[in-house]
Amino acid sequence: MLERLSNKRVLLGVTGSIAAYKAGEVVRRLREYGAEVRVIMTHAATDFVTPMTFQALSGNPVHQHLLDTQAEAAMGHIELARWADAILVAPASADFLARLRLGRADDLLMAVCLASDIPLAVAPAMNHRMWTDQATEDNIRVLRSRGVLTFGPDSGDQACGDVGVGRMQDPQILVSNLAEVFESGALAGLHVLVTAGPTREAIDPVRFLSNHSSGKMGFAVAQAAVEAGARVTLVSGPVSLNTPDGVKRYDVESAQQMQDAVTSCMNDVDILIATAAVADYRPEQVEAQKIKKQQDELQVKLIKNPDILSTVKQRYPACFCVGFAAETENLEHHARTKLHDKGVDMIAANWVGDTVNGGFNSDENALRLVWHEGEQELPLMNKSKLARAFIGHIAQRFYVRHKSALTGDNILHFDKKENSES
Ligand code: PMT
Repeated sequence: MLERLSNKRVLLGVTGSIAAYKAGEVVRRLREYGAEVRVIMTHAATDFVTPMTFQALSGNPVHQHLLDTQAEAAMGHIELARWADAILVAPASADFLARLRLGRADDLLMAVCLASDIPLAVAPAMNHRMWTDQATEDNIRVLRSRGVLTFGPDSGDQACGDVGVGRMQDPQILVSNLAEVFESGALAGLHVLVTAGPTREAIDPVRFLSNHSSGKMGFAVAQAAVEAGARVTLVSGPVSLNTPDGVKRYDVESAQQMQDAVTSCMNDVDILIATAAVADYRPEQVEAQKIKKQQDELQVKLIKNPDILSTVKQRYPACFCVGFAAETENLEHHARTKLHDKGVDMIAANWVGDTVNGGFNSDENALRLVWHEGEQELPLMNKSKLARAFIGHIAQRFYVRHKSALTGDNILHFDKKENSES
């Protein structure tokens, strides 16, 4: 279960408590299991442990101030909130819990908690009388009702000499509890095929037509599908990215090769997610030798490539097919046209051609999902996080199509044989 932490971005908030020294162990464990960690310390926390400790353990600068011009330019509170997949506040002091309940935004940690909509977990640590005080009990009750997860506290000897409930939960157990936050299992038992990256269409032995796709979006989608429990095959054009753990990858160059690779995998594919930026046209003729610079003008005749997505959907109608639409204008209109023309189940439309909205080669992206009965906006965020939200929506639409009830349990225990279409 701890492998769920692999590649996750965890924002660790450290508040003013004697247990702050144990937060160092939390950082070590998180990194051991493959998570990337950034630490925010409150002013009170620095009375117990120095920022240098967490900088050394996390491998990242520690964030402390809300109004820091340098940090705001690089990783300010909104960027930190966008960056993270989950926030863990450990230790969480009684004062922090009270301020969180009030929705204060008067220091960096509070502002980040307020600005994010990702899972937020707190590991309370305080004297046992403070923990059982009515005010703290009320705060915890309200926070839980808002979806804040509470890990601990444990019972035992306290730093002040008392014995009782109020010790910060053991770092190893904390980290295991956090790992559970990430598992969706929504695609357990399914085979997902993802295409990614650009294709290259040869003109001669040294030149080709291509586009700006880096493969980042497709690789993030493959990773998110693995995390959701799917068996994942990735067919990728030329990119320089590492294969996500647990993914079977085939490398191709041209659209024709991508179609061949996709077709060879299609027998038992349940969901196809076509993230690749496939060239629509290729040169009719590929010159055997390098074209010489002899003429003032050169005409290269282009012919249409096969449309991989619509061909697959025609041949395998039971496969849930998700296409992308990369647009520079009329996003919604073109997305709906592609949904209809390609006969697919969902289109994920994104803007390309500017640097504001993500798209090609950026670490961030935004998607407008359209399907026959509805649509959903996924705002600008990093591609890993976006891919997880995207996979969640795909899983939901997949099960709706298969007329399965939409409860979490049914999603987790879906039996594809019983529900498959012919
Ligand atoms: O790789 P990144 O740098 O992270 O950038 C991500 C991205 C912008 C490439 C990605 O989010 C994206 O938009 N991918 C689709 C790009 C594209 O080719 O869009 P399109 O609107 O031209 O194609 C529509 C759909 O048909 C796509 O799913 C495409 O894979 C598919 N297609 C297109 C042509 C073709 N011959 N065969 C296809 O299957």
